[in-house]
Amino acid sequence: MSYERQSIRRMEGYGYGEQPDDPDVVKLNTNENPYPPSPAVAAALAQFDAAALRRYPPAESEAFRRLAAAQLGLAPAEVLVTHGGDEGLRLAFTTFVDPGAVFAMGYPSYSLYEVLARVQGCRIESIPLADDWSLPADFCARANGADASLTCVVNPHAPSGVLLDVDTLAGIAGEVEGVVLIDEAYVDFVDPALGHDATRLIREFDNLLLLRTLSKGYSLAGLRFGFLLGNPGLLEPIATKTRDSYNQDLLAQTLACAAYTDEQYARSTWCRVRSARDALASGLAALGFRGPASQTNFLLVAPPSNWSLDARAIYEQLKARGILVRHFDTPRLGGMLRITAGTPEQNSLLLEALRGIGEVDHAAQE
Ligand SMILES: Cc1ncc(COP(=O)(O)O)c(C=O)c1O
Repeated sequence: MSYERQSIRRMEGYGYGEQPDDPDVVKLNTNENPYPPSPAVAAALAQFDAAALRRYPPAESEAFRRLAAAQLGLAPAEVLVTHGGDEGLRLAFTTFVDPGAVFAMGYPSYSLYEVLARVQGCRIESIPLADDWSLPADFCARANGADASLTCVVNPHAPSGVLLDVDTLAGIAGEVEGVVLIDEAYVDFVDPALGHDATRLIREFDNLLLLRTLSKGYSLAGLRFGFLLGNPGLLEPIATKTRDSYNQDLLAQTLACAAYTDEQYARSTWCRVRSARDALASGLAALGFRGPASQTNFLLVAPPSNWSLDARAIYEQLKARGILVRHFDTPRLGGMLRITAGTPEQNSLLLEALRGIGEVDHAAQE
C-alpha cells in the first residue's frame, strides 16, 4: 500500500551530488567554495549563547534583511530570507504556480526546477537552449505562448557558466507576462570588471525575483541560507502566507550576518576562485577538453575528441582515483563533465589524474 499522491509516486526526486565522508576525496562535484567561510563566522559561532535557542528566532530575519538591503542599495522590504536558495525556488512555485498551470525554463538548467514543478503538479515548458547555451530568440514568446505563470532563468547559467547581460534580463522581465525568477546562485563569481548588477531591475519590473544564496560566494552551503530580492508587493504573499512561519533559525541568522558583514573576506575568495577557475580552464584546454567560458565557480567541458573514453567513463576513472566531478546522464549533458574549480592544489591533482587517464587511453588505442 502506497500513501503517496499519484504524481509523487510517478516522479523522480532530486539527484544529489555525492557527499563522501572521506575528507581526502578531492570534491569538485557540487560547486562548493573551496575556501572556508570568513573567520567572523567561527567567532560568532564561538560566542553564540545556546540559551538564546529557548525562544523562537526573529520571524523575518530582520537583521540580515537590513544588512543585505544596505549592501545592495535596496530597502529591507525588498529582501526575503529563505532556507537556502532551494527554499526560494520552492516558494516561487507554491506562491505563483497553480497546480496544472505552466512553469517555463531553458533546458538544461538546475535540475531541481523540474522536481519542484512536479511536486507542485504543474506542467513544464522546457525550452531548449541555443548551441552556445544562451536562451533562444523565441524564449519569451514560448513562455508566453504556454501561458507560463513562472519562468526561471539561471544566470550565470548552470551548468554551463555562461552569463546573460543585464539588458537581456531586462528584456525578458519586460516581455514575459508571468513571474520571472532569475536564479543568481553563482553571481558572486562574475568578473567585477563586467560591472554586472541586476538588482536595479526589481524596481523596474514588478514581476521579477532575483534569487541569491550564501552557499557559494560566502562558503556556507552547510548553513542553508538564501534570499530573494523583489518588489515588496511580489514578496508579500511569500512573507505572509507560503513560507514557514520561522523559516530561518537563530544560529543561521547570526552566522549569516557575520559572513555577510565581512564581504571583503568573501570577495577575496571570489577573486581566488576566479583565478583558480581560469587556470583550470587553461589546463583542461591544454589536454583537449572543450567548453564554454564560465563566469561561475565551475566549468562544463567535453572530453578531447581523440580520447576513446566518454565523459561517463572519465567520471568513473576519476572517482576511482578519489576525485569527484559531476556527470549528468541526460541528453544534452551526457557527453560532458561539470567540474567545480577547487584550490590550485586540488585542480593540479585533477589535471594530473586526467593526464594519466589520457595516456592510458592513448596507449590502449595504439
Ligand atoms: C543554479 C542553482 N540555483 C540554486 C541553488 C540552491 O542553492 P542553495 O539551496 O544551496 O542555496 C543551486 C545549488 O547548487 C544552484 O546550482
